[in-house]
Amino acid sequence: MSDIASVLKHLTHGVYVVGVADGEQTNAFTAAWVMQVSFSPILLALSINPKHSSYQLLKKSGVCSINVLSSAQQSMAAHFGQPASADKMAQGTWKKSVTGAPILQESLAYFDCEFSHEISAGDHQVVICRVREAGQLSAEGKRAMNYNETGDMDGSSDLYS
Ligand SMILES: Cc1cc2nc3c(=O)[nH]c(=O)nc-3n(C[C@H](O)[C@H](O)[C@H](O)COP(=O)(O)O)c2cc1C
Repeated sequence: MSDIASVLKHLTHGVYVVGVADGEQTNAFTAAWVMQVSFSPILLALSINPKHSSYQLLKKSGVCSINVLSSAQQSMAAHFGQPASADKMAQGTWKKSVTGAPILQESLAYFDCEFSHEISAGDHQVVICRVREAGQLSAEGKRAMNYNETGDMDGSSDLYS
């Protein structure tokens, strides 16, 4: 890992499962690069590798959910950090939201979002989403996971050139 890459570990990020759907076809992936970028309208930004299967579904349908993981949900973060497969969505309990995106019922809280626009950023696309609806699910007594707690779960130490 480069010197800059190890210093980047000091940036703080949460850990989220982003749910996507196009009709009955659903998928979800783990993401750390998520942040609020506007008060009015309320906008969230999500940096996504366009090679992910989830990116294609998000672009087709224009909707996604951002589900906040708790510090106790490491196995959930690892599971949704794997590429799409026939049984990827078998983990977790999913409920269709207002927009049609799948909401992870075991998450601390969720945001139901509509695609607004996107910006190219190196090897990722920064997708800006408008929040249509949000809810707290099982937040009481729990704290959100910090990306640093996932170590090299995403294999990012090999991604710097
Ligand atoms: C802790 C963690 C954080 C991650 N953060 C991101 C992220 O912010 N953006 C991204 O595009 N991929 C991120 N990934 C990688 C994706 O979750 C992973 O490539 C996944 O296989 C994509 O799934 P899909 O191909 O089914 O869409 C992260 C993975 C982990 C484990």
